[in-house]
Amino acid sequence: MTSGLLKLCLFSILCLSLAASAGSPPRKRAWITIGDAAFRQIKTVAPELTSIESRQVRVEDGSEKVHAVVLDEGKLVTIAAAIHQRMGQCGGFMYHASESEARAALDRRRFVLPARLYGIHRRDVVEPILANMQEKPIESTILALSAFTNRYYASKSGVEASNWLLSAWRELAAGREDISVALVAHKGYPQSSVTLTITGTDLADEYVVVGAHLDSIISFGMSETARAPGADDDASGVASMTEAIRALIDSGYRPRRSIHVIAYAAEEVGLRGSQDIAKQFKQANRKVAGVLQLDMTNYKGAPNDIYLLTDYTNAAQNAFIAELVGAYLPELKLGYDKCGYGCSDHASWDAQGYPVSMPFESSFARDNPTIHTSRDTLANSGGQTAHALKFARLAAAYMVELSF
Ligand code: BES
Ligand code: ZN
Repeated sequence: MTSGLLKLCLFSILCLSLAASAGSPPRKRAWITIGDAAFRQIKTVAPELTSIESRQVRVEDGSEKVHAVVLDEGKLVTIAAAIHQRMGQCGGFMYHASESEARAALDRRRFVLPARLYGIHRRDVVEPILANMQEKPIESTILALSAFTNRYYASKSGVEASNWLLSAWRELAAGREDISVALVAHKGYPQSSVTLTITGTDLADEYVVVGAHLDSIISFGMSETARAPGADDDASGVASMTEAIRALIDSGYRPRRSIHVIAYAAEEVGLRGSQDIAKQFKQANRKVAGVLQLDMTNYKGAPNDIYLLTDYTNAAQNAFIAELVGAYLPELKLGYDKCGYGCSDHASWDAQGYPVSMPFESSFARDNPTIHTSRDTLANSGGQTAHALKFARLAAAYMVELSF
């Protein structure tokens, strides 16, 4: 479909849904925060949407205007689709259940960790773990997750996928009393996030967090029975993370800090699962050494192997990631790119002031064209998992070095 045609479709869909709501009783309200570029796109089709507050927020290499907007909850899916399809780069948004939460989200706090955390100290542990990592287990996780009809945050198969991952992680942790696997329930929708925690041997209250999102979506016609395999977005991230954990457990390694792995629910509808969890960490005053987000790891669309996002991420930790690549994966070529406001779960941690990085599979100009469609399958990511294995190895090196 040409981009002109696509725009026309989106205009009609959005206009129809707006017209349908005229005159009907008031629906449930929702709030989002959204970057200026995406907001302007939305305004062209839904001019009645106004920003209740705008703020210029600082990002690593400049600043961006962000708006808090109130809208009808029923419009969220259409708006998410419109933003995603119409933006040259990916421009997301963050969902908020109240006006005060939305306004609070415009505040960016900074949390700086001592640089001495970063460094290459555990070659003895990392190298054998990386050598033991394989494509096969990544492939089976991607195939298992993408076999669910969809993993939508509000659907039955979305709940089943979350339960499936719980069992798979429990199997990995079997026989280890220092490892716990749990569901994190969220308010307002049935899909739970899944967590695996390896309790640290002597800095147990400090966490190294690695996450990926469990849910999937299609932009048009989402329903209980709609096919949304989400093999790349983001079964691949969950699979890379799972292989890192498998190899780490297999090696018998006991971290000094706690390692906390999370498969988030409800990313595709405004980063809802990860916002809940990052806020809980903040409220409990938990110390976080660092957060790594893996969202899309198996489609190699561009010449470099790994693209580090430079916006809404932590520059010092990004430099450490580059150092890890140099030390443990020297054959890989590193690039840099930006993703815009609220594009994945890293933004939820960044919003709470925690240092977060997101290594991405491609440049945004050459991103996977099948995501958010029924064609996001393993076959359409090249039918193999060599690319996702690079991210799995990076995640394993990150977990070991930062937990030491
Ligand atoms: N994995 C995507 C982010 C992404 C999209 C990366 C396109 C590269 C290219 C993520 O799951 C997603 O779809 N995010 C939404 C925002 C979300 C808050 C609805 C997006 O970018 O539209
Ligand atoms: Zn995603």
